[in-house]
Amino acid sequence: MARKKFIAGNWKMNTTPAEGIALAREIVTQAKNISDVDIAICPPYTHLAAIGEIIKDSPIKLGAQDVHWEPKGAFTGKISAAMLGAAGVTYVIIGHSEQRTYFHETDVSVNKKIKAALGGGLLPIVCIGETLEERNSGKMEGVLKTQITGGFAGIAKNDALKCTIAYEPVWAIGTGVNASPEQANQAHIFIRSIFSSLYDVQFAQAVRIQYGGSMKPDNAKQLLQQSDVDGGLIGGASLKAADFMGIVIPR
Ligand code: PGA
Repeated sequence: MARKKFIAGNWKMNTTPAEGIALAREIVTQAKNISDVDIAICPPYTHLAAIGEIIKDSPIKLGAQDVHWEPKGAFTGKISAAMLGAAGVTYVIIGHSEQRTYFHETDVSVNKKIKAALGGGLLPIVCIGETLEERNSGKMEGVLKTQITGGFAGIAKNDALKCTIAYEPVWAIGTGVNASPEQANQAHIFIRSIFSSLYDVQFAQAVRIQYGGSMKPDNAKQLLQQSDVDGGLIGGASLKAADFMGIVIPR
């Protein structure tokens, strides 16, 4: 079964609400007839409800950039899966390397967040990836395996099928240095082999794996042509409608 491509824009901590609304409007205009690629935009929390209104009759889905694992209570600064769902959110990014590096995200918290997101009816985009040091010292495969087995511990196959994986080598994020198409594809094939042991070969073939890390219009086509690259998680290039759409429809 062919995997439908999925391009998601991770706006990170960028844009004011007004700028975000303008960007969402431009993307809606440019993407209105696209049905062969799944598209999501993940603005900051403060923009979600307003942008949800703008995209509601378009093919574009709304994503959030994180979620807390508890359903409610005294967790200052956190947002629950139910709150995101009520704001019109479909997808949620979990385990982004910036969360792992700056905000103490671990495979244990990733696991709790995936469970909470699924429990709240959201579709997780689960980020994994190695640092340059890990890659250069031959640890890439071990790191990816640990992130996957820890992140998906105790999650049944049917639930895991609702997840997208984003392979984002840390050294490629925001650096302008993307993984080569071959490097990305090899990592994706390895990731499928881990899922094949964790669940089964059908799962490994069905799960969508996005590539993320300095993907832009001029390298998107080659990356997306790889056998095992099913889309992209786009940071910097998702902040301009023309660049984002140049990845959705690569030339
Ligand atoms: P980048 O970010 O496209 O700016 O490298 C990707 C990401 O962090 O998701």
